[in-house]
Amino acid sequence: MDLTSKAVLVTGGASGLGEATVRYFAAKGSNVVVFDRDGERGKAIESELGSGVVFVEGSVLDDDDTQAAVAAATDLGGLRGVVACAGGARKSERTISRDGTPHDRQLFTDTVDLNLVGTFNTLRYASSAMSQLEPVDDDGQRGAIVMVASIAGIEGQIGQLAYGAAKAGIIGMTVIAARDLSSAGVRVNAIAPGTIHTRAWEGAPAEMRKTFEDKVPFPKRFGKPDEFAALAEHLLTNDYMNGHVARLDGAIRFDPK
Ligand SMILES: NC(=O)c1ccc[n+]([C@@H]2O[C@H](COP(=O)([O-])OP(=O)(O)OC[C@H]3O[C@@H](n4cnc5c(N)ncnc54)[C@H](O)[C@@H]3O)[C@@H](O)[C@H]2O)c1
Repeated sequence: MDLTSKAVLVTGGASGLGEATVRYFAAKGSNVVVFDRDGERGKAIESELGSGVVFVEGSVLDDDDTQAAVAAATDLGGLRGVVACAGGARKSERTISRDGTPHDRQLFTDTVDLNLVGTFNTLRYASSAMSQLEPVDDDGQRGAIVMVASIAGIEGQIGQLAYGAAKAGIIGMTVIAARDLSSAGVRVNAIAPGTIHTRAWEGAPAEMRKTFEDKVPFPKRFGKPDEFAALAEHLLTNDYMNGHVARLDGAIRFDPK
């Protein structure tokens, strides 16, 4: 899959892994739709990167917004690639607190909504648009999608019940969506990052960041957003990658806490 001059949609593209992915694909000659609820950062990226990059402000949880982002990609020459980064962890909470109080239900459903339902929404609208395009090769390929999970969806830590459940849901969707979309010629893969240095981590105390860094076997540091973008590119452009969840984590395995 050659994405040069083709449209790539990046949800959560105004920050962190998404922003790095936007810059990566723009530098390689793709047209990029930055879809994010952060209007200020999104507009700044659009005006910095120029005419091949279009910002659509909105939420992945809103059907109209998501369809508008997909339509913007269609206008940019046809949506062939998606990297669904919008998401993130909220407050950490245990199944029951020390005094036995049950986990807050709203916190759980909000986290699942943002990470799992938002990714599902992007997946369904983007793949529907892709299914209407002409195939690009003799295999009948029309497009490719990368969803963003987390290693917390495999070995979540204490306090990550909601986030880990949401990311496990994305991991579970991966091979099913790849199978569902085989007749449309759309491949679906996911990345499960470990600890990648973005602003989500900048808020954490330095001591806590150091603890996580020390636990990475090699290289002994946080991952770089560009390393994520390079893997996303590989999963989008390697035509035999399908239904795969790729850890990107320097071989870290999360401890219980
Ligand atoms: N950074 C890490 O170490 C790490 C590890 C594992 C998984 N992840 C996952 O990678 C993704 C990106 O994380 P990041 O570290 O770059 O975070 P980030 O906070 O830097 O970026 C997330 C972006 O998503 C946007 N966003 C949030 N809710 C949205 C919504 N409803 N609609 C549209 N946009 C929305 C935010 O405005 C922000 O620009 C997330 O799904 C996160 O769970 C990150």
